[in-house]
Amino acid sequence: MLKEAQTRLREATRVAVLTGAGISAPSGIPTFRDPGGLWKEFRIEDYATPEAYARDPERVWAWYAWRYRKIQAARPNRAHELLARLEAEKGEGFVLVTQNIDGLHQRAGSRRVIELHGNIARARCEWCDARVPLPPPEAFTPPPTCPRCTSRMRPDVVWFGEFLPEKALAAAERAFAEAEVALVIGTSAAVEPAASLGRYARWSGAYLIEINPEPTPLTPLAHCALRMGAVEGLEALLAPPAEDQPEGDLPKP
Ligand code: APR
Repeated sequence: MLKEAQTRLREATRVAVLTGAGISAPSGIPTFRDPGGLWKEFRIEDYATPEAYARDPERVWAWYAWRYRKIQAARPNRAHELLARLEAEKGEGFVLVTQNIDGLHQRAGSRRVIELHGNIARARCEWCDARVPLPPPEAFTPPPTCPRCTSRMRPDVVWFGEFLPEKALAAAERAFAEAEVALVIGTSAAVEPAASLGRYARWSGAYLIEINPEPTPLTPLAHCALRMGAVEGLEALLAPPAEDQPEGDLPKP
């Protein structure tokens, strides 16, 4: 299974990747639904819905400012770097769709990134929709004020019950529908519409690879399910083919 997945990925010109919180776990950023995850400690209804923000914007901003500081102090890990390298190899045919709002893919060098759920380092005006990057954490006191219309700004992330950015979702769906190989890494596949991207690819004839230490609803559809972490899985998947390894590396007969 791994050998075929390596060959498929090596030969593919159109590759679509979907990442979730699991790819940033090795960078020390908590996931959501694992033991110790954010939704085990905090209620979604108190921090990640428009109603929570309308009820208590200060509390929601304090929570996002706390996450923003943690994320800015984190560094991209080897899995982020390997995906940036894969993008450099594949060029135009490569699309990286992420549910993460941590920006670590871009900090690792990925450029062809579609952020489905926004980015924690950006704010959006509640009135005129202007978007601005947040100042560095040490110089940031929420809530930011819109430089254009002076209204209060909110985190530029997608909350539960909100629509995803239309263009981003359309581009992500197209990438997965057209992919020869779809690679889904570090997501519980619990939240739509991102969770369906792997299925679209599979139904459109793509070779589907999943990397996750745990099974997910997508696992039964995967041609190759690597039950391992993002770093180990990508290193295994992107390892040079055995015949390319110098003699010395081949296992002794
Ligand atoms: N490598 C790969 N996968 C990992 C690792 C790792 N080192 N550690 C954990 N995982 C896997 C877990 O097994 C789990 O399947 O990452 C997944 C994390 O799942 P969630 O916490 O549900 O995160 P995610 O799938 O990204 O959530 C989707 O839900 O709360 C919303 O907006 C939020 O974007 C998020 C969305």
